[in-house]
This record gives sequence, structure tokens and C-alpha cells, in this order.
Amino acid sequence: MFNTRTRIKDLLNSEKANYSATVMGWVRTFRNNQFIALNDGSTNNNIQVVVELGSLDENTLKRITTGACIKATGEVIPSLGKGQKVELKATGIEILGDSDAEKFPLQPKKHSLEFLREIAHLRFRTNTFGAIFRVRHALAFAIHEFFNKKGFVYLHSPIITASDAEGAGEMFKVTTFPLDGTAPKNDDGSINFKEDFFGRSTNLTVSGQLEGELAAMAFSDIYTFGPTFRAENSNTTRHLAEFWMIEPEMAFSDLEDNMNLAEEFIKYIIRYAMENNREDLEFLTQRLEEEEKQKPQNERSEMGLMEKLEFVVNNNFERITYTEAIDILRESNHNKKKKFQYLIEGWGVDLQSEHERYLVEKHFKKPVILTNYPKDIKAFYMRQNDDGKTVAAMDILAPGIGEIVGGSQREERLDKLTTRMNEMHIPTEELDWYLDTRRFGACPHAGFGLGFERLVLFVTGMTNIRDVIPFPRYPKSAAF
Ligand code: 4AD
Ligand code: MG
Repeated sequence: MFNTRTRIKDLLNSEKANYSATVMGWVRTFRNNQFIALNDGSTNNNIQVVVELGSLDENTLKRITTGACIKATGEVIPSLGKGQKVELKATGIEILGDSDAEKFPLQPKKHSLEFLREIAHLRFRTNTFGAIFRVRHALAFAIHEFFNKKGFVYLHSPIITASDAEGAGEMFKVTTFPLDGTAPKNDDGSINFKEDFFGRSTNLTVSGQLEGELAAMAFSDIYTFGPTFRAENSNTTRHLAEFWMIEPEMAFSDLEDNMNLAEEFIKYIIRYAMENNREDLEFLTQRLEEEEKQKPQNERSEMGLMEKLEFVVNNNFERITYTEAIDILRESNHNKKKKFQYLIEGWGVDLQSEHERYLVEKHFKKPVILTNYPKDIKAFYMRQNDDGKTVAAMDILAPGIGEIVGGSQREERLDKLTTRMNEMHIPTEELDWYLDTRRFGACPHAGFGLGFERLVLFVTGMTNIRDVIPFPRYPKSAAF
């Protein structure tokens, strides 16, 4: 058997010493032809492998370079140096994969996040991205754990779909037709999708919600967790063209149940990461602190990362209506002094991220759940309130991020739903299967979507969403 190694994390964490072990990993640095800092991705901490002087031939020594992959066997002994409890006194070193030190792009020095984005295939091997992606993993695991404990069924909603769940119309098309102008056409010159692979026009999903609702009308509680795609041309630090979304859908639930679940859910997964990834979060806290030092005093955040996470899990989210939010924004000095790019003049406008961030960061200084938005700025499926103007929507806004969750109670009354669909020019024939849930055993139900990368941004304290997904997709970029 080849792999009888000990994970570096386990080795460093164990209290034992004076036993033999084998470690494998990638060389971070090699000092004085004697001290190898070896990392296998299980932790940011390296094991110090000590090569006894004269024990290795010249050629092997030369091949121990930054980036090289090696296997080291030896004795785990209490460390003489500071910084680590134990080290490995090597009796044998095998080079598994060479790395030309001249050409290896990751030098043992600080690289910019922009540069690392260009070498995303190698950035996993840095401390920052090691920490980010271990935290991302832990959050994903905690999400499944949370819903599993609550008896939710994990539903795999389709990735290719003929429906546009949000009615947003910013979708990537899926077709096997040639793109050279020879695709079959109808008499009026439009593309004849009847002859395409699926016999109709299809696209990548923007949300699994509608399918989720179907399943909730059988299992009561479900959630999806999968990739979603939006072809919006948004070049921001908050938008991706391919992102992961968690969408729970609950039968027998109203807007308040929905808010309660979302808040409990967010706190649970953050707490999980705090308990299980302390080392990585401490590293990221430190990283952020250093980054903040580059900023002018008045732009620095008041709390460190860990402090912010503690605060979020230990305090209630603020809950206010859209109407109350508009009043706060309109009356704010920020608005009066015309500091918003989009001034708030009246009820009914959609909130821009500058407004969301003002509410969260300046006014309440905590996460905010905004409810009951004007129906005209929200999707067709949201439940209409009795005032005739608003819907039972909720958005959760997080400090430093803005919108992290979007959701609502759903319109379960068939007549109200179809009337609204007609008003919004959503074709009812194409969504006949969706309307069936309202025909056969409808019930009050609600759900929400959490943008996974926005959550990872929040928890890791990173500032660009492109740094919290392994291989980001955004306008003009689909490398790797
Ligand atoms: O608010 P959205 O568009 O809501 C829905 O898709 C609903 N169907 C959810 C539901 O009720 N089941 O998207 C939900 C969340 C947003 O709050 C945001 O966190 C994230 O998805 N999101 C994005 N994340 C990264 N890049 C993008 N382009 C995103 N668009 C939305
Ligand atoms: Mg939204």
C-alpha cells in the first residue's frame, strides 16, 4: 500500500512524540539544506521536516524546492525550535513530483489576490486560499447537517430547465444547434427549437425554487443546494455568473416561520465554522486586520472578523418592513446631504446596495431582515398582502455584503397567482405543472435562497466574491 501517511494536522495536534511516521505534501520552503516546511492542505501549519546534514545525496537535496511534492519518513520528536511542538526527523525522503523553482509561480512571499486569481489552479497552495476553502467546505457540510437534523429532504433540482424561475430573463441558453447560422428555422425566421435536443428552448437554471415547491408539497420540508447561473453583465465584487445557492422550501409556513428558519440557519452554520475551523478563521481575522491597516481610519470596520461573527451569532437580526426602511433612508443625513448615488425620494423604488449597506452598517449595525416589499419590484410567486401593494417578501442584508438571502411566503391561491402572472406576462401554459400544486392540495408555504458565496465572503472576511469560489465565472472569464 502506497499511502500510509499521517495527515500533518493530526500529527501536529497529537500530544505524542517519539514514534515513526510518514508525511506527504508540498514543500513551502527549504532552509539551510536542512529544514523543510511541508504542507498537505489539512491545515495552514506546516510540519518542519529536519534533514540530517549529510544524510541525503546532492541530487535529492537539489530537488527539494518550493512547490515540489515529497514523501518524508522519520521520527516524530519534540521540536527544539520555537513555533511548533513536534517536528519530523527524516530518515528518508522521496521526491514524488519535482517543481522547477525558477518557473513555479508561487514564490515564498506575499502575492496579490489579483495575481493569485490568474493562477487559480495553484492558489489553493497558499495560506489564504487554504483557509478560505477549508472554511467553505465546513460551511457546506454544516448546511447539510442543519437540514438533516431538522428532517428536510435534500432535493436535486435540475440544472437544465425550460423555465425561468425568477422571470428575470438573464439566462444562459442550452442547445446542440450549430452556431454557424444553419440551425433549423421557423417560417418567420426564428430558431425552430422543436428540432433541438430537448425539443424546446432550454437554459441553465437561475434557481431551483419552483421545482423545490413541487417537492415541498409532498415532503413538507426540502432544500436544494446546487449551482445556479445568471447571465447578467454584473462586474461587481458580489456577483458571479455561476454561483451556488441553498433553497429550502417549507409547507405549512408563513413569512415569520421563514424568517425564523433563515436566521437560525445562518447562525448555525456560522457557529459550526467557528467551532470547527477556529485556526483558519483566526488566520483570516489576522489577514483582514492587515488589509484594513492599508485603509484610512474612517473606512476601517469597527470589528475584527472573529468579533463580527461572534456578534452575529449572539444577537437577533433586526426585522423591519420595506416601508420603515424607506422612511429611515429618506430621513437620513446621508440622503439629505445627497451622499447616496441614488437618492431616496419616495416609496416603491428598489433598494440599491448603497442603501442596504447604509441600513446594515450605519443605522442598525447588525444584520437586517427587510420584509413586505412593493409587489412591482419582486417576483410573481410572492404572496400578495391584503394592502394590494406589497408582497410577503424578505431579504436578509449582512454587514459588508448587502443582500445575502432572498425569499418569501409563496402565493398559494390559484386565482391570485394566475392574475399576477398575467399582469407580469409570465406564460401560464408553460408553468402549468407549477400551477398544479395550487390546484391539488395547496397550502401556505414559504422558502428562501441563500447565496452560498456571499455567505462564504461574510464568514471569511474576504472582499471579492471571486476569491471564495474555486474557479469563478464572470463576464469575459471562464478560465480553468
Ligand atoms: O434573490 P434571488 O434572486 O432569489 C431567488 O433566486 C429565489 N428563487 C430564492 C428563493 O426564494 N428560493 O437570489 C437568492 C440569493 C441572493 O440573496 C444572493 O445571496 C444570491 O442568491 N445571488 C447571487 N450570488 C452571487 N452572484 C449572483 N449573481 C447572485 N444573484 C443572487
Ligand atoms: Mg434577491
